[in-house]
Amino acid sequence: MTKKMVAFVTGGVGGIGSAICRELFQNGYQVIAGYLPAEEDVAQATLKEWRAEGADADIISGDVGNFASCVEMGKTIQQKFGVVQVLVNCAGITKDRTFKKMAEEDWNAVLNVNLNSLFNVTKQFVNGMTDAGYGRIINISSVNGKKGQFGQTNYSASKAGMHGFTMALAQEVVRKGVTVNTISPGYTETLMTKSMPADVTKQIVDQIPAGRMALPEEIAYVVGFLANERAGYITGVNISCNGGLFISF
Ligand code: CAA
Repeated sequence: MTKKMVAFVTGGVGGIGSAICRELFQNGYQVIAGYLPAEEDVAQATLKEWRAEGADADIISGDVGNFASCVEMGKTIQQKFGVVQVLVNCAGITKDRTFKKMAEEDWNAVLNVNLNSLFNVTKQFVNGMTDAGYGRIINISSVNGKKGQFGQTNYSASKAGMHGFTMALAQEVVRKGVTVNTISPGYTETLMTKSMPADVTKQIVDQIPAGRMALPEEIAYVVGFLANERAGYITGVNISCNGGLFISF
């Protein structure tokens, strides 16, 4: 039997992340979902559910905002599963405030988890991919990293920064068989959007041409597409999946 390809998904037990894990294990990958130690209960429950479905799935705790923690996660994953072929950088947080009310810690926390994590996590796996001559790096950004959003100077800046990382790294590794792409989801039905004030949610959903938020599975489908071996000539691009909320070419 040929060895399954290995996929590591950060934020893998969250709303979009867990749908990505399911898409990948249903597509035949060995999947490892990363989670914060504080999410232990939900991570264990999610793993139980996946295994009951017959998934080749595992979980690993760590902090994507902490380089040393990522070194540990990288070592543990590669010792247990070998080279990782697919990395999905999905972990992300919001700390929404208007700029005038935003504290330095709101700025730093969001930039650290959403953007510095790309350095911290990707660093652990990219050399394994280039040495093996194959890899797929998929960064989950946001529509708000393309259009900006009232109350999200920190989040919009971090998500826009992901595009720069994607475009630059894509050029460095494509000759070694590694693609690097970004997906920009629109508003998606997860705990993150549920925590928005109801009036703000209504105002935003009213502006979405599709007339509704995305389902996590609709974002996960795009990950499955980019992760596919046949998508090897697509690199350095962003794929928007936002129901028409922000249309650009
Ligand atoms: N554009 C212009 N003005 C706006 C506005 C908008 N979109 N929204 C509110 N305002 C105005 C209000 O009318 C109010 O005006 P007045 O002072 O004249 O009455 C003022 O701005 C309110 O400013 P405050 O600083 O007092 O803001 P607040 O404390 O009431 O709330 C907020 C600010 C917490 C950021 C709130 O607006 C909010 O939660 N916004 C949602 C931000 C958002 O979209 N988050 C997405 C989360 S999900 C996600 O991020 C996933 C993803 O990738 C899509």
